[in-house]
Amino acid sequence: MTDAAHPHADALKYEDWAGEMGARWLANLKGFEGTIAPAGEALLARAAFAPGERVIDLGCGGGATTIAVAASVTPGGSVLGLDISPDLIAATTRRAQQAGAGNASFLCADAATVTLPDAPYDRLVSRFGCMFFSDPVAAFANLRGQLKPGGRIDLAVWGPPAENPWMTDGMAVARRHVEMPKPVPRAPGPFAFEEVGYLREVLGSAGFSHVDIGAAAGELAVGGAGATAEEARGFATNGMAFGQILLDYPPEVQAAAAADLTALYAGHYRPGEGVMMSYCAWLISATA
Ligand SMILES: C[S@@+](CC[C@H](N)C(=O)[O-])C[C@H]1O[C@@H](n2cnc3c(N)ncnc32)[C@H](O)[C@@H]1O
Repeated sequence: MTDAAHPHADALKYEDWAGEMGARWLANLKGFEGTIAPAGEALLARAAFAPGERVIDLGCGGGATTIAVAASVTPGGSVLGLDISPDLIAATTRRAQQAGAGNASFLCADAATVTLPDAPYDRLVSRFGCMFFSDPVAAFANLRGQLKPGGRIDLAVWGPPAENPWMTDGMAVARRHVEMPKPVPRAPGPFAFEEVGYLREVLGSAGFSHVDIGAAAGELAVGGAGATAEEARGFATNGMAFGQILLDYPPEVQAAAAADLTALYAGHYRPGEGVMMSYCAWLISATA
């Protein structure tokens, strides 16, 4: 039951990025980054970073985007990967060093409240890292304070559940076997900004202007390019929140759900490509 003092308490339980969810993202990093790659490419193409810019990567996760931005702003520019998960920041710092991205640095902090020592920055980018704030207006206002006046932000957030069957079809299969929490509109989570007008309002209330909304849609490969139906099933049950819910049920229930999930993904498998399913993300830019 939802805690009356905190209407999003149930949703937040599954978005413990500083703890369990951050560790789970890291453990399934290849699958996650492979799955969301097309939306990330569209986001970076739209953002068109230029040499010399100083950029914040909000909710940088495993750092694929941070490292890509670091290359785009060279020479003269730099990028700060900001994330609330200590596990992700530790792993990502090592990864960037190994990639030779000397102009990328990393900080573990809550973006909702952090004051960045090297602020103000020119720009901010976030690939699916801005949907988890319990008070989004306050968090975006804080982030605006870390940017130069006129600095541009570029965000990717998921569109409506019905247009993201790559996530919701698996959830629906799991729901046939176990109880799943009911989605709460606007609660922190992947679909917090499915209604893009709400994000427009949040950004406006936080002081941003010139909000511009685009979209990236098409197919993505669940579990990464080339993953088989069984691999996609493993990615979903190990990585996605509904997989964690399944773990609370007896082995025979888990096995039955796993068989149905593999059948779902097999229906979308194309040899040489992977488990190809539709997605829709909003790409939003605005000015600080
Ligand atoms: C869906 S993942 C996306 C990771 C990365 N941007 C990518 O595309 O690979 C969301 C990320 O946002 C981070 N995050 C969530 N809430 C945050 C907060 N309040 N402050 C900083 N990072 C946060 C999580 O730890 C996680 O790494």
